[in-house]
Amino acid sequence: MRVALISDIHSNLEALTSVLQRLKQESVDIILNLGDIVGYNASPNECVELLQDKPILSLAGNHDLAVLEVSRAQHFNIIAYQALLYSREQLRPEFLDFFRNLPLTRQGRGFLACHGTPTSPDSYVLFHFQGKSVLNYLRQHPDLRVCFFGHTHRRALWCRDIRGKVALLPIKPEKMVLDKDCLYLINPGSVGQPRDGNPEAAYAIFDDEEFSIHFKSVPYDIRSAQQRILAAGLPEFLAERLAQGV
Ligand SMILES: [Fe+2]
Repeated sequence: MRVALISDIHSNLEALTSVLQRLKQESVDIILNLGDIVGYNASPNECVELLQDKPILSLAGNHDLAVLEVSRAQHFNIIAYQALLYSREQLRPEFLDFFRNLPLTRQGRGFLACHGTPTSPDSYVLFHFQGKSVLNYLRQHPDLRVCFFGHTHRRALWCRDIRGKVALLPIKPEKMVLDKDCLYLINPGSVGQPRDGNPEAAYAIFDDEEFSIHFKSVPYDIRSAQQRILAAGLPEFLAERLAQGV
């Protein structure tokens, strides 16, 4: 089974459109969306429409939960908070049920999918102790080999080998065949607001039979996404950062 992994779309219609277009050529069996559909950028309704229109399995990110319950955004930085309020104002009422029905995690053959960590959509896997903690969680579930996550907006491939050594592996541009004796945490990066220096919309393809991961990205019309942000009256920095991938 080939699984397309997308995450952190954040209301970026141009980026989501480009990724979905590219996925038509990837012959995947499922598309798994790891959350944060709204926030930051200017097109929350259009993104929900696109996702609802296709057989995409989504789960809830912290911004998706905050759009339903704004008190969950109290710890956001001021720019993220302003953009969350914009998403909340803009979102058509008929889409609220879509967000209410999003699960926090999803499980498939050998894998678990979540937004931040398996136990919290707000927690990050950025540092070694955090990767180790989630890999320990996987170890306690013998039916799981891999956990897909998002939230950091950075691609990542964490590995725990049979001796228990945890490492953050370098991301290669080509397909990477994984070791069946190891446990992995995989972050495909962000579709709508990448922060790892590559401004292209990021996604990844996981193949559970050959046990491989291929990190990919696709260019999109950044200028148009920026113009929408400015026209919506959202902070200029949200437009600028898209061009830099930060
Ligand atoms: Fe996010």
